[in-house]
Amino acid sequence: MHEATAEAIFEQKHLAVHSMQNQVVIITGASSGIGQACALEYAKQGDSIVIAARNYDKLKKLETALVALGAKVLSVAFDITLDEDRKRLIDQTVTKFGRIDVLINNAGISQRSLAKNTLLDVDRQLMEVNYFGTIALTKYALQPMIKAQSGHIAVISSIVGKFGFPLRTGYSATKHALHGYFESLRAELHEDNIKVSIICPGRIKTNISINALTEDGSTHSKMDEGTEAGLSAESCARQIVRAISSGKKETYIGGKEILMIYIRRFLPGLFYKMILNIKAT
Ligand SMILES: NC(=O)c1ccc[n+]([C@@H]2O[C@H](COP(=O)([O-])OP(=O)(O)OC[C@H]3O[C@@H](n4cnc5c(N)ncnc54)[C@H](OP(=O)(O)O)[C@@H]3O)[C@@H](O)[C@H]2O)c1
Repeated sequence: MHEATAEAIFEQKHLAVHSMQNQVVIITGASSGIGQACALEYAKQGDSIVIAARNYDKLKKLETALVALGAKVLSVAFDITLDEDRKRLIDQTVTKFGRIDVLINNAGISQRSLAKNTLLDVDRQLMEVNYFGTIALTKYALQPMIKAQSGHIAVISSIVGKFGFPLRTGYSATKHALHGYFESLRAELHEDNIKVSIICPGRIKTNISINALTEDGSTHSKMDEGTEAGLSAESCARQIVRAISSGKKETYIGGKEILMIYIRRFLPGLFYKMILNIKAT
């Protein structure tokens, strides 16, 4: 009886340690901004990290920094719109580390253009990257997670996944779609012990506006004032890592812009007036 209790305590402690560190974490869009900052946070915790994005040179530079922090790292050149890349990312992770504890679906692109001027191809491109790429990669990651009966899938949405915003029609639609998909998925995966966290950042100081698509698909190439004044990627990453480790289902991260979510939910009439007076950039 006494021995059985000691064994149970050991197992609980082992599980707690396993959940705090030595996790295998995949981060998409790790070459920049929020994804890069998340990789550094996980490295500080002693986790094994798989970093993926198109820009392999940036990944290799990040890899050096992560290894210096003591992390085991796999860098994977990966375009989320390509099925062979999505499959390869999951296969290489399982081959190197044997399992996937956390998948952070972070890769994404934003938009800066009026709907009336935006080519449908641009709306499709936003959907391909932010929505279809994300759910297709998640389907591959689910196979080893379901087999292991454990795992955690996080998706980086946005506050504009909770309400609409001018100049972001296509982008906001991709993020709303993620909420529908991942909230439904959470309910399906409960029995398999796989958690789902939806993270909604507000304004975070990254290259998001520089890389955003304009009406013809060219990049905006400008740092917006709002983005410049946003929360640091490091602070955002710390809050993301905390939200995931505490199993939060939905989290909002940012400054006073987060209030818009609550105004939209509880005072929709006020929200509809306010949104007309916002000078969108
Ligand atoms: N910054 C904000 O204010 C803010 C607010 C709300 C939500 N978010 C969300 O946060 C996430 C990260 O954005 P960020 O702010 O860190 O912007 P960022 O600095 O522009 O980083 C975007 C990342 O996505 C990757 N990416 C883009 N297209 C890709 C593709 N086809 N295949 C693979 N990777 C791709 C980029 O890597 P490569 O170019 O090397 O492929 C880069 O690493 C996005 O989902 C964004 O929507 C950001």
